[in-house]
Amino acid sequence: MSEYTPELLCDGDIRLYHGDCIDVIRSLPACSVDSVVTDPPYGIDFVGAAWDGDTIRAEHGTFQAWTTAWAGECLRVLKPGGHLLAFGSPRRWHRLAAGIEEAGFDIRDSIAWLHVQGWPKRLDIAYAIDRGQTLSREQILRFTTWLRSTGITAAQINEATGTHMASHYLSIKSQPAVPRAKEFDLLRPLLPEVPAEIEELVAQRTGTTREDRETAYKGRATELLGRWETLDSGTPVLGEAKQWEGWGTALKPAFEPVVVARKPLESTVAASVTQYGTGALNIRRCETETGAYPPNVTCDQTAAGQITAESGVQVADHWPVWRLHAKAGPDERPKVGGVAHPTVKPVGLMAWLVRLITPSNGLVLEPFAGSGTTGEAALAEGMRAILIEREATYLPLIRQRLARPIDTVLPLGGVA
Ligand SMILES: C[S@@+](CC[C@H](N)C(=O)[O-])C[C@H]1O[C@@H](n2cnc3c(N)ncnc32)[C@H](O)[C@@H]1O
Repeated sequence: MSEYTPELLCDGDIRLYHGDCIDVIRSLPACSVDSVVTDPPYGIDFVGAAWDGDTIRAEHGTFQAWTTAWAGECLRVLKPGGHLLAFGSPRRWHRLAAGIEEAGFDIRDSIAWLHVQGWPKRLDIAYAIDRGQTLSREQILRFTTWLRSTGITAAQINEATGTHMASHYLSIKSQPAVPRAKEFDLLRPLLPEVPAEIEELVAQRTGTTREDRETAYKGRATELLGRWETLDSGTPVLGEAKQWEGWGTALKPAFEPVVVARKPLESTVAASVTQYGTGALNIRRCETETGAYPPNVTCDQTAAGQITAESGVQVADHWPVWRLHAKAGPDERPKVGGVAHPTVKPVGLMAWLVRLITPSNGLVLEPFAGSGTTGEAALAEGMRAILIEREATYLPLIRQRLARPIDTVLPLGGVA
């Protein structure tokens, strides 16, 4: 007898479980679901959510080992030839695919979802130079070693500077740091004569003055600049910073990959589809709006417009284009008691994925339900779904989403 009892929603077409998906799936019968369509945590500490990093590391060591653990349970409950589609992040996707493969799936393909609302979190190199972030570890340790040799105590440093930085200024191991001139001047009365080399290190660490930087960079006091316009409007102050103007550390994220995997067939695809209804992709019903063969690239309308404008290529003739926002719009995002989910997928995209791999009236498994988008997509496609979510705070979002009228979100593809 399972310790997990699902909450039945939508006349029982949705079974909602509250718990860790690995434990919950373990309680489900083998070979009982037709497809897995899932949006797991990417393991990148997104918006500081513990479920996207800390918890995984604490319980499973690595993202890949954790992926293998949940994908292994999905493999057991999938029918032979059943497909699994899992979203990943561009920088962790290789571990996601490796973990799914390690669990026993065949990796069949990857789908690229192109969108336009990604936000580049990059370091502006010129600004970092102006802020005096150019000291090497060896230079920093020269400073901290000298400061320790003066006999000044941590309590004295913290009291004089009004900060808690003493452990950094005195460290010769973890996170050593050199103070800027403003803090260092507060320490001078407590120090012996300062060698010229130490003065130079403090000056280099200080970089430009805060006022100069704020004028040059139009008052932006953050080093994580999100937009090209900010960098373009900034005017580096130091010569070296000018030399590196326009350099950063990251591209604007504009696609998310989806790993396409399949539970190994028992024999042939033809035998699998006739016996289990699984093993193949629903190509005809996933054709593009113009009737073209579905590619492994999908696109939102804004991205399609940009590509068409720049290339002259009519994107809709080649790729499925969502009549939706790049990311789920506000009307698609449930909110209960001030709680909303930070990573809601567009329901049209999820419906296309459900449609691609699930036989008619099939049962879809979503181990990482979030706000329940995959469940809504399954209903819109005339399917049933098992949703699992570990965070109790997100369960009301799922209930709210599924209490709304469910519309068909995509036209029927091809000749249907
Ligand atoms: C990327 S979000 C899914 C968002 C969803 N696609 C949507 O549109 O709302 C992943 C979800 O998985 C949940 N989660 C994380 N670890 C879990 C686990 N071990 N078992 C079940 N759910 C988990 C998180 O709480 C989070 O809500």
